[in-house]
Amino acid sequence: MTLIDVLSPDERAESTSPWWVGAVAYQVYLRSFRDGDGDGIGDLKGLLRGLEDIAALGCDAIWLNPCYPSPQRDHGYDIADYFDVDPDYGTLADFDAVVREAHRLGIRVLMDMVANHCSIEHEWFRAAVRAAPGSPERARFHFADGRGAEGELPPNNWQSVFGGPAWTRVTDAAGRPGQWYLHSFDSGQPDFNWESADVSLHFRRVLEFWFDRGVDGFRIDVGHGHVKAPGLPDWPGAETGTGGHNHAMWDQPGVHDIYRTWRSLGDSYPEKKYFIGEIWVPSIERLAAYLRPDEMHQAFSFDLLVQPWDASRLRTAIDAGLAAAGSAPAWTLSNHDVHRTVTRYGQEQILEPTDPTDMIAAARRIGRADLDKGTRRAAAAAALLLALPGTVYLYQGEELGLPEVFDLPREARQDPIWIRSEGAELGRDGCRVPIPWAATEKNFGFGESDSSWLPQPEWFGRYARDRAAAQPNSMLRIYEQLISLRRRFFAGDAPIVWLDTERPDVLAFQRAGATCVVNTGAQPFAVLAHWQTGAPVIATAATEAETVIPRDSAAWFAPRGG
Ligand code: GLC
Repeated sequence: MTLIDVLSPDERAESTSPWWVGAVAYQVYLRSFRDGDGDGIGDLKGLLRGLEDIAALGCDAIWLNPCYPSPQRDHGYDIADYFDVDPDYGTLADFDAVVREAHRLGIRVLMDMVANHCSIEHEWFRAAVRAAPGSPERARFHFADGRGAEGELPPNNWQSVFGGPAWTRVTDAAGRPGQWYLHSFDSGQPDFNWESADVSLHFRRVLEFWFDRGVDGFRIDVGHGHVKAPGLPDWPGAETGTGGHNHAMWDQPGVHDIYRTWRSLGDSYPEKKYFIGEIWVPSIERLAAYLRPDEMHQAFSFDLLVQPWDASRLRTAIDAGLAAAGSAPAWTLSNHDVHRTVTRYGQEQILEPTDPTDMIAAARRIGRADLDKGTRRAAAAAALLLALPGTVYLYQGEELGLPEVFDLPREARQDPIWIRSEGAELGRDGCRVPIPWAATEKNFGFGESDSSWLPQPEWFGRYARDRAAAQPNSMLRIYEQLISLRRRFFAGDAPIVWLDTERPDVLAFQRAGATCVVNTGAQPFAVLAHWQTGAPVIATAATEAETVIPRDSAAWFAPRGG
């Protein structure tokens, strides 16, 4: 891969847009980022040490996956206490130090708000299990009597996202089987009942607690969850997986009231706090509803993430993202829930339309990957993303071109998806393996312990950050350059103007006088003369002629001195 021309980064132009328009946010999966205290688990001290690297990459914000006290059944998405930091990760003082240092470096800090469910170890849930059916303690969750003569069957036919029924039965004080509680995910994650005033008040206090510590915003976990259809009715076909999107369980109208309340709280701070939703819904209209001016600022355009490497599919997904969000969508190609990009793009591409809400079919497929091909495509996809209007979210390790780790030992796997499916699905551990920082150090520089919470494969050293930094054409260098050039040429929310060619495998557009051309095909593409707005400023693959874009690569053209 070659950088044809490296321009020095400009200061970001003065603008009246909110900070997130044009920004790049780096997703920190804390457990795997960097281990500062040598226990094999990433932590806040490790993050503090790594912040300079995130700043050097050119990122404007970090999004921290949940770091609250948790029994870690779903690695922090099962929260036992919303007002503290898990001891594995450090203390509130460590957290404050991260916020201070991030702000000093010009990086905003976003946390994860998990409000659909908590952990079975949360004091409210423990109290609810001890309390009687019909008690105020149980009313904070969804407890219900079972069906069948002895109440031995779940109250309805809903299924957990992680496999199996969405209900688990508790035993009463005398040890007899009692009511069931609803959990949309693992049985360790009881769903809150958002009809309960205690619950909404609690989350208001949680938001205030972290906002007052300087947190700039939240990513809202399962934003389409939270509220269930009144009476928790069966959903036809839910138990066989043939019922499509279970609208009784997801995307209920009541969720919107929650975000209106949160938004007005966030807006009451002088600097206006920010919200981005994780929303999996089957249509543009439904997604757009979350983005009304008094709700969330953004929601991830997952439609793009789940597409195969195919120009027309990518273009349709970009248009869908813009249609839902307006001028500044939030784009991402990967996160802690899906397989790594270089692996996905290196696998056989399945072109049948996929259900945009079905992550497993689209983004968690098992299968051999051609990593050279996948790496070329991932670099080109980064160039595509970073030319788009809006915000780009970058999952840690993507900038190193890390592949999915398929060869984790069975006994090392921990994801509840793996456990609940009894190994039928690999789950998400393979994209969560601790990051390699230094090729020749212990644990590849992740930390000082003898091993890490998920073992790193031997081949991880090849992708280490220090190695990538020393190679002129590495994925890391490409990302650095793309991010710095984005500030200069693609930062605002100027609209996309698509450029058409005879080649269906070429995707090209102009924005604010600069051009992005992506060749998803196997043949080189000679860029049309009238597309060349100025000079080529970056190309993700080596090319003999600067205006010829090799297979599976991308280039940007921009006015010199622009
Ligand atoms: C979201 C998170 C995922 C988690 C789930 C349950 O989808 O991204 O990691 O397992 O919610 O909280």
